[in-house]
Amino acid sequence: MSDDTELATEAQIAVHWKEEQYFEPSQAFIAQANMQDASIRERFSEENFPECYREYADMLDWFKPYDQVLDSSNPPFWKWFVGGKLNVAYNCIDRHLAQHRNKAAFIFVGEPEEEEPYAMTYQELWVRVNEMAALLRDHCGLKAGDRVTLHMPMTLELPITMLACARLGVVHSQVFGGFSGKAAGDRIADSGSDWLITMDAYWRSGKLIDHREKVAPALEEAKSLGKTGVKVLVWQRYPGKDSSKTPMVEGRDAFVNDILKDYRGKRVEPVHMDAEAPLFLMYSSGTTGKPKGCQHRTGGYLAYVAATSKYIQDIHPSDTYWCMADIGWITGHSYIVYGPLAIGATSVVYEGTPTFPDHNRPWRIAERLGVNIFHTSPTAIRALRRLDPDAPSKGPQNFKHMTTVGEPIEPKAWRWYHEQVGKGKAVICDTWWQTENGGFLISTVPALEKMKPGSAGPGLPGVYPIILDDDGNELPAGSGKAGNLCIRNPWPGIMQTIWGDDERYVDTYYRRFCKNPDSKDWRDWPYISGDGAIDAEDGYYRILGRIDDVINVSGHRLGTKEIESACLTVAEVAEAAVVAVHDDIKGTVPEVYVSVPVNVTDRDAVATKVIRACEDIIGKIARPERVYVVPDMPKTRSGKIMRRVLGAISNRRDTGDVSTLANPEVVEEIRILVQSR
Ligand code: WTA
Repeated sequence: MSDDTELATEAQIAVHWKEEQYFEPSQAFIAQANMQDASIRERFSEENFPECYREYADMLDWFKPYDQVLDSSNPPFWKWFVGGKLNVAYNCIDRHLAQHRNKAAFIFVGEPEEEEPYAMTYQELWVRVNEMAALLRDHCGLKAGDRVTLHMPMTLELPITMLACARLGVVHSQVFGGFSGKAAGDRIADSGSDWLITMDAYWRSGKLIDHREKVAPALEEAKSLGKTGVKVLVWQRYPGKDSSKTPMVEGRDAFVNDILKDYRGKRVEPVHMDAEAPLFLMYSSGTTGKPKGCQHRTGGYLAYVAATSKYIQDIHPSDTYWCMADIGWITGHSYIVYGPLAIGATSVVYEGTPTFPDHNRPWRIAERLGVNIFHTSPTAIRALRRLDPDAPSKGPQNFKHMTTVGEPIEPKAWRWYHEQVGKGKAVICDTWWQTENGGFLISTVPALEKMKPGSAGPGLPGVYPIILDDDGNELPAGSGKAGNLCIRNPWPGIMQTIWGDDERYVDTYYRRFCKNPDSKDWRDWPYISGDGAIDAEDGYYRILGRIDDVINVSGHRLGTKEIESACLTVAEVAEAAVVAVHDDIKGTVPEVYVSVPVNVTDRDAVATKVIRACEDIIGKIARPERVYVVPDMPKTRSGKIMRRVLGAISNRRDTGDVSTLANPEVVEEIRILVQSR
């Protein structure tokens, strides 16, 4: 142990991140907000749980009313709105027709800028979903409860297919379009899908990518896992034209556009689904082991995403809302498709990369469509900032509300987002949640609670987060100490189980901190998020990152996110990633990767500043063992930095398959840089 270590106890490390000043929402925002009534906290207090969630369920149209809000008699297999019957497509489309028939449900923006945006009205969406539902039912023979795997890019055919499934009660499992064929094949086999629905091609970073080439490896993989006879439906990016060079396979593949001609004008009655019927599977971005198929329910899920879209994102039918995520992730399911449509919003679907053909594209899209609510990730915010730190505030965008999601946002990036992108007037909701959760769990309610950069905020109304230490003891509220972020109660958006693996569901999310496995009381079954967090005195949660991101140096815990946040205080640093490297004496030590803008040439000076920043902000214990200044970070197609790949390089391990990354070529560059030192 070095003599620095006693300078910083674990608790001191945890609270090093200095408290930030609050930012208030503007009066203009408050005056128009969907939720201005502070009594919502009282209505959703623990005494009123679970009955409070009637308010959310009442936002939907039910074919048959539910008899019970929550059945928690078999924990942790919760049942929500028991006995109720509804249809998700009906709630997202049909019921809006009377008032909003000719309002845009979606506006599609293709990546090529010369293609005009296309607005699809609720009426038109209704027509297309009906026809597609008829095709799925009559051509494919699909019925309620069957699973179908979608491997589609960001075009309107994706939500049309999802909603057509929902109309029939067919369980869709959309695999992110950027994933490999093999990844799709694993999911086809795991879900037991007889059909794969895909698209011939899509635009990404200026290239029309052949997407159909992923079909063969997908079916091969499925076959190796015992799933044979899978049939393939192919949408065309340009209807009537085949944009893929990969041959179609006779008897296996068919163009959706061709078959749809037989279903013109067909209407399909929405199937009355049980509130507890599964709506979709979303495989969680597997780090190790088999991907987990998070199974989401019909009634609770839709109620939860509808209400959180309305109250947290403050979407009104008159707004134009743009979530720049991909529908292939949970964010896109909940907050591009189901949440916004359930409340009659206009939701933008953008096909391509935010920085194509240049970094001002998002602001041009926003201006052209009149977007006033914008939703993106800290990674995108940092990337846009790196490319052009001062420009956005002079740009044409005009936002009232902005969301961030997916990773902790350091105060520096938060302030830039607020000042430059939001021009100091848009509110920001830093929303914390997970694939498993269905919808936001931690965030400020934008008109009611002040914002604090770097902290997500309190639990949403009706969500009671707690911090447990490693022995399962609850830390007192506002302790300022780091621990395991758990949610004490179930909520309607929580997953039902892991598809086909109830035991893994219990093991992963509940086993460790359940004091009495025989207990039938939900209070004994806290949900384990796998994230570390701190509950500050004001009740705001600061997310530290995955527990498995925690580095244990000489028996002291360091959040990798905390170190990264320290690195990001250095002006020249655009992105930072910290990995744990094995050290014979200290167990593990942190190594730091930072990327800098191209015009920064003195890399040694940056490295020195980074080391100093870590020492100054956290303590000498956080001094990175080594700092690598790299041209770019290896990233997933959704923009997450692949720390696993960096960790493998630092630890001289095999990086594994990197072909699905957005920029696989950078991996080799970094490996040479690191391993030559
Ligand atoms: C992280 C994305 C900090 C967290 C919706 C979580 C966040 C994981 C935030 C889930 C946030 C998500 N602040 N960290 N606002 N939101 N995370 O399943 O580590 O893709 O466990 O769901 O992202 O990622 P997932």
